[in-house]
Amino acid sequence: MPGDNAKKALIDSLNGLLADYFALYLKTKNYHWHVAGPQFRDLHLLFDEQAAELFALTDVIGERVRKNGGATLTSIGAVAAKSVIEDDDRTSVDAIAMVKALRDDNAKLVERIRAAKQAAGEAGDNATEGMADDWTDQAEKRVWFLTEIAS
Ligand SMILES: [Fe+2]
Repeated sequence: MPGDNAKKALIDSLNGLLADYFALYLKTKNYHWHVAGPQFRDLHLLFDEQAAELFALTDVIGERVRKNGGATLTSIGAVAAKSVIEDDDRTSVDAIAMVKALRDDNAKLVERIRAAKQAAGEAGDNATEGMADDWTDQAEKRVWFLTEIAS
């Protein structure tokens, strides 16, 4: 039987990941709202698609925490305390700089998903371990698209 420490580490890891998803969701929406320039239409729509993907997983991850017996995030303050995604409060950012920032943030997310998957393995949480592969695939697709646009 995996010990309490492994379970606690998994819950912490999932809550960190959940915070990253909320933070990256809002950052992607910020760019969806503020993007400008000749690629406006493409980027405005792409950022919206990516934001929707991010938001859709927030409930899934929050409920993995609850199914593991943990308490999950309760507020925007909790998101700010646990996320590793840097805020960007500027409203006028070069469009390609936005693409590069989201590329790097999604790559960071891939690492955080990998850590959560490992923690799930150590805690014997097969369901999270299996789901994490889909989360990775989605995040890697975002990284791919953003990388190609930025090149
Ligand atoms: Fe919109």
